[in-house]
Parts: sequence; C-alpha cells; structure tokens
Amino acid sequence: MDLFERVKQLRKEGAKAIESAATEKKLDEVRVKLMGRKGELTEILHAMKEIDPQHRREIGQEVNQLRDQFTERLDVSKKALVKKMVEQRLENERLDVTLPGRPVSLGTKHVVRILQDDLERFFIGMGYQVVQGPEIESEHYNFEMLNLPKDHPARDMQATFYIDDDHLLRSQTSPVQARTLEKHDFKKGPLKMISPGKVYRRDDDDATHSHQFAQMEGLVVDRHITMGDLKGTLESVAKHVFGQDRETRLRPSYFPFTEPSVEMDVSCFNCDGKGCAVCKYTGWIEVLGAGMVHPNVLENAGIDSNIYGGFAFGLGLDRFAILKYGVGDIRDFYTNDVRFLEQFRQEEN
Ligand code: DAH
Repeated sequence: MDLFERVKQLRKEGAKAIESAATEKKLDEVRVKLMGRKGELTEILHAMKEIDPQHRREIGQEVNQLRDQFTERLDVSKKALVKKMVEQRLENERLDVTLPGRPVSLGTKHVVRILQDDLERFFIGMGYQVVQGPEIESEHYNFEMLNLPKDHPARDMQATFYIDDDHLLRSQTSPVQARTLEKHDFKKGPLKMISPGKVYRRDDDDATHSHQFAQMEGLVVDRHITMGDLKGTLESVAKHVFGQDRETRLRPSYFPFTEPSVEMDVSCFNCDGKGCAVCKYTGWIEVLGAGMVHPNVLENAGIDSNIYGGFAFGLGLDRFAILKYGVGDIRDFYTNDVRFLEQFRQEEN
C-alpha cells in the first residue's frame, strides 16, 4: 500500500478509534497508538524517507494536517469524557437534602443532679447562697470544728476513708458549715447557705448504701433564729419536693453539731400515711437530719454564741431521689445504665 493510502486509512481509523474510546484510559491508549513515539503517524514519517522529494512534501503536509486533526479530536474527546465522569460522580453521590435526619442521641441530666439543681433554685429563691467545699477534707473541719473531738464515740456513726492521719474523704457536707462560719462577716447580714456535694463512707454497697453519695447541707445563723424557723423551712422543702399534701413531723435525735437535734419524717407518699411496705408500716419516711446549731460549733468558728444562733440541716440527695421517684436500688444511680437514666428525661429542668 502506498503512503497516500496509509494516510487516508489512518485518517478514517484514527477518527473512529478516538470516537469509540469510552474512558480516559482508553483514549490515552488511542493517543499513544496514533501519535506516540512508536505510533502510526511516526511510522509514516519514517517511511517518507523512502519516497521521492515531491511526494514527500505533499505527504508531509497531509501528515501534519492529520496530526493537528488528531490532536484536536483527542482534546475534544477528552473534555467530553471528563465532563461525563464528573456528571456521573455527581449523580452517584447525590445528596437528598429532603430526607429526614438521623436522630442524634442526647444524654440527660442525672436524676440526682436534677434534684440538686431544683433544690438550689428553691433555696436561692429564699435568699440562700450556694457554697462549695473540698471533698478531701481535714479531720479538723470534718470532725473537730463540728464538736466531734478525737475519740468521740459519735465518730463511729460515719465510717470514714482516711488518706493520711489528718486527711480524709469527707463523710458529710457539714464541714462546709465550719468553713463558711469562719469566713462570714455578720456586719453584712445573716448567714444563709446551702452546700451540695459528694460525700464518702466506708459502707458495703447494697440496695440502700453506697460508698459515695450526695448531700445538701443547710445553715442559717443570725440573731433570734428559732426552732420555728427550722420547722417552717424544712416543711416547705418537703412539700416542694414530695408534694403539697405531705405532712411532716420532727422527732428528737442526736447529732454532735446540733442541740437540740431532730430528724424529719414525711408522711408516706405511697400509702398517704396508712402504712405500707415503703414506709415499713409506720406511715412515715425519714428524710433528713437537722437541729439548732450547737454553741460549740459557733464558738469554734469565733462567733459569740450568746448573740448568734441558728439552725442547720443535712439531707441526702440520693435518698430524696429514691423516695421521690421510687427507685429500688441506689446502685442504679452510678452504674450508668442509659435505660435507667433516660427515665428521668421529662424531669429535666
Ligand atoms: N451530717 C449529718 C450526716 O451526714 C447530717 C446532718 C444532721 C447535717 C444534722 C446537719 C444537721 O447539718 O444539723 O449524717
């Protein structure tokens, strides 16, 4: 076949090959086959050496023209293929923004925290300040300042985690009483404070005991504070938490830092005081300890107990939550089973 024929045929075949290359990779193979170093155009150029100069010029022009033509077609084809690929990807990765979103699972406040927040607001509304104390406490504040000298038998009421001879994980929030009393300036007004927080006891854990739980301490000190103030305050707390229909009563008790000391019972919300398993058939449920601040506690903090007096109370937040929501096992509060925790979502505030 003479060279003119080869060029003519290449023109046809090349155009067809370019047209039918369906991917960029195929197109590239076609390009190499047509115009590469060992491609067909190059072969023709080599073959031109063999023919006479006059035909050589003619054929040279044709080959150049063909190269331009191929180059242009390859270029057009490539652009079309890229465009097609992009379109296909967009189609494949199409997002339907109208689909409903996947639900995000949100945690809830812990039920003990819910109660704590609620009580804080309640007391703040009555003019109390909220005070924090350290969880690693000294014997001095946890016991001595609260009228519990060394070797006092009442220390046995609270089995304590000791860290060294003088430091322990506080067994009650009451040390915050002493810390706050020491700092308070009565020239600025009466002291009214609550202090919520974690406390620790060396109990064996069971359905009603935990080595760690939450308390809320309360303390009011001023001139002319009476037991009537204590009773009224506690009664409004009980009604706020357990319902307006609840009756309360105070029973004599003993705490080293109060004199007289009381415990408060709330009429059983389960049986309304008739007697049932929840209240152990007494009609009453014990909810907190309280009393009139012992003069020694005031004097220890440098306050004249002939002028000032007050009341204090300590309530268990976990215990309140158990009673309010009928929780069967205190361990549910810290084993973090989401099914348990989520039940209190609607109580969140
Ligand atoms: N700290 C006591 C306890 O953990 C509770 C308590 C009782 C606190 C009487 C008080 C109080 O402030 O006056 O058992």
